[in-house]
Amino acid sequence: MVSAASSSKLSEHNISSQPHAWSLLANIAALPLSFAIISLISFCTLLYNKKTALNQSSSERSSNAVPFIVFQEPDWTLLHKSAEQYRTHNLRLLQTLSQGLDILLFNKELTNLDNITGRLQNRIDRLSEIFDQDQDLLQTQVFVPFETTYVLPDGEPANSTNTFSSRTADHSYDDPHQVVAHIVRDWTAEGKQIRRQLYDWCLSKIDKSGLRIMVPGAGMGRLAWELARNKHAWVEALESSVGMAAAAASILQRKQSGMIHPYSSDQLSNEVNSSQRYLRVQYPDVDDLSTKQGHLSYTVADFLSLNGVVNNQSKFDVVVTCFFLDTASNVLEYITMITKLLRPKGGMWVNVGPLQWHQKSQIRFSADELYNIIEEVGFQIMEWGVDVAPIEYRSSDKVVRSTHYDAYCPLRFVAVLK
Ligand SMILES: C[S@@+](CC[C@H](N)C(=O)[O-])C[C@H]1O[C@@H](n2cnc3c(N)ncnc32)[C@H](O)[C@@H]1O
Repeated sequence: MVSAASSSKLSEHNISSQPHAWSLLANIAALPLSFAIISLISFCTLLYNKKTALNQSSSERSSNAVPFIVFQEPDWTLLHKSAEQYRTHNLRLLQTLSQGLDILLFNKELTNLDNITGRLQNRIDRLSEIFDQDQDLLQTQVFVPFETTYVLPDGEPANSTNTFSSRTADHSYDDPHQVVAHIVRDWTAEGKQIRRQLYDWCLSKIDKSGLRIMVPGAGMGRLAWELARNKHAWVEALESSVGMAAAAASILQRKQSGMIHPYSSDQLSNEVNSSQRYLRVQYPDVDDLSTKQGHLSYTVADFLSLNGVVNNQSKFDVVVTCFFLDTASNVLEYITMITKLLRPKGGMWVNVGPLQWHQKSQIRFSADELYNIIEEVGFQIMEWGVDVAPIEYRSSDKVVRSTHYDAYCPLRFVAVLK
């Protein structure tokens, strides 16, 4: 199953340099019916025997940490780029504020502006301090390489010749602002209301325990973690962004916590109250990160790259897509992948999210068109609807932060393979 070409590629990876490389046996015990792992156990054993010391004591392993699976060495340079991008953005923001301060100071027409001048100076000082703190946290804790477990996909995806194949690297979710927004959405008290409206709905559709569930586009991993923990399920989170995965690993693997100022580097537009920018939030909002009787592993890969690993033993009972469908270049590829991953006759697809097709999307269906497609490819649609009330994306702490309102009315559906 494993081609010579791909095994030689893997051997280039400096696995032994990974901090605390996991022993394979420990991984197998920790992983759910991870499609890739099951089909590749023998190869991996070979690989690990060759590449890593298998004599680690169990005390060396992080207890109950979520394994992060990769098919190839993640591009760690992206993490450095993300941290630098944050610094550059914040420097620009400070420069804009300083320019404003200069204009105030050199203004000759209006008088008695001392108060506002002081306020603006204070804003610059406070923000510089906050940016330093957040930059430090991101660089030392969030955007850092994480411990990985290597497995190999089984050769090239079958449809790699497809003209509309979307497998070009998309780094938009490595953007530090995306990562910070997702930390807030998933792992802070500020995101609780949003999670209740989205994640709780997904959980309510799972009525059995012990199911195998795949969550593609898992972001910071909270939905996948809740499915594992509350539904005692074997869950595979899957995510293509290394930045997202790194942040998720800091929480789910290294069990780190922190304080961050998620609104500090928002655009200097539509601001209602300048002091709201300084709000500091704590993450994660839970003390116990264990998945209890459930199992969670997190694969860092493009969803479409699973084409090469999916086989009969690797079928899932449920695929949950949350704010994921509209990230597709060609959503037909996602739908094909979902049907391949699901157990035939009875495999369930639960979806919640908008149809805000991404810039790269080559095909942009409306909800009613999607309904037709999903039925035509063999699903029975059990539930279908578009929310009337909009839901914010990052946090909904009921504070009016902005004169601009940004929210989505997600499409929700449950469909079962006939
Ligand atoms: C809008 S975010 C939603 C994240 C999460 N599901 C949530 O609701 O918070 C979409 C996520 O899908 C990931 N993603 C986009 N295209 C992907 C692909 N082809 N394979 C895997 N993940 C992908 C992005 O990196 C991002 O984390």
